[in-house]
Amino acid sequence: MNISLPVDRRLWPEDVAQSRAHVRMLAEAGIISEADRDAVLGALEAVERELKGGGFPFREDDEDIHMAIERRVTELAGESGARLHTARSRNDQVATDLAMFTRARATEAAALVSALMDSLLNAAERHLDWPMPGYTHLQRAQPVYLSHHLMAYFWMLERDRVRLRFAAEQADSLPLGAGALAGVNFPTDRRQVAHDLGFERVAPNSIDAVSNRDFALDFLSAAATCATHLSRLGSELVLWSSDEFGFSRLPDAWSSGSSIMPQKKNPDAAELLRAKAPRLAARLVALHGVLHGLPLTYNKDLQEDKEHLFDAVDTLELCLTAARGMVEGVRFDRDRLAAASADELLAATDVADLLVRRGMAFRQAHGVVAGLVRFALEQGRSLSELTPEELAGHSELLDDDYYEVLRQGAWLESKVSEGGTALPRVREQLELARRTLAGEVAAGASAPLEASR
Ligand code: ARG
Repeated sequence: MNISLPVDRRLWPEDVAQSRAHVRMLAEAGIISEADRDAVLGALEAVERELKGGGFPFREDDEDIHMAIERRVTELAGESGARLHTARSRNDQVATDLAMFTRARATEAAALVSALMDSLLNAAERHLDWPMPGYTHLQRAQPVYLSHHLMAYFWMLERDRVRLRFAAEQADSLPLGAGALAGVNFPTDRRQVAHDLGFERVAPNSIDAVSNRDFALDFLSAAATCATHLSRLGSELVLWSSDEFGFSRLPDAWSSGSSIMPQKKNPDAAELLRAKAPRLAARLVALHGVLHGLPLTYNKDLQEDKEHLFDAVDTLELCLTAARGMVEGVRFDRDRLAAASADELLAATDVADLLVRRGMAFRQAHGVVAGLVRFALEQGRSLSELTPEELAGHSELLDDDYYEVLRQGAWLESKVSEGGTALPRVREQLELARRTLAGEVAAGASAPLEASR
């Protein structure tokens, strides 16, 4: 139960890098001799080679990767090796490895998010003016352009990227040098170690340094939200690629056949995007559970942080890669999308707005149009088949412009408000998105107000 090696052995690159920085600093500060330093660095070199090549001689009683590496360094470098752990505790050591790991993986996840955003933006540009139905309650509500719909995911992911980068920043404070909890009895130079390992700051309080796992919480929180976004994308891809919708076809690489029904093509990967999300949320909650009520400073409970973090890292990277593959390979059916968005009833709000422009209060207009829709449905006729006389019976304000409003396409191009689906607005959005990806706009979902005033 005590042994964590099977889980934490993947921290070996961080542990080796940290030990190198540590012994360099110890020698610089005159705490160990240069000969000892060189012997340890030589042994670390060999250990790295063994770990990389899979030839590292792990032993039954290696408790964790930190103990295993130190044991091996001591085997190889003798008494010099036994000096490696001078002025260091496994408490600040493990916190440091984990911070390095989190910083790197959060940065990598943010890069995968950027790549997916780029794929979405390209897909939006390819389908700029393809009408499709927009939904509320999974009922056709108002038509939008497919580009506009795809871009909704772009902006979700932009927020994810901000959160992942925040997690990386939170992990950018060096715990090493805190010792077990109180600091160490040697004149160490923590700033040198921080500089060596690329940390932005030195943790200012040794007690907090060994107890802190907030950066892991921040990563898990960002990962859980991102996975939730991907689950919504997965869910829509599943719906869209069903025969019932028929809006899209997923690439073969991201679908699979049925083992018994030869006609079927199942959207497995998209379904998994849906189902992986709760797992990340669970990892976040689990780590909160580990940390909650935990007295300062190090408690063995903290060993349980890694499995949650590692699983979240792996799952998120997998989901982001799969989502990108699907976005790049999905083929949309323009005719099906257009047919589904040609239903005149989707223009009901536009007819109400016509009445509003003629001076009627919106609530009243809503009632008039509801009456019109009921009237048309009862007679099995479409809205544009109603005669001018019938219209006048519902409201005198309904004239020939009514037919103009029902003309297809007018309902999309009338959505001119900033962030709306009218093409000039979508183009504006795509432009902002390009600049966001290029790093020209400060992180966030919209241009700052001052810029346009
Ligand atoms: N395997 C431990 C962990 O991952 C390392 C720290 C052990 N420290 C200690 N005081 N027992 O948390």
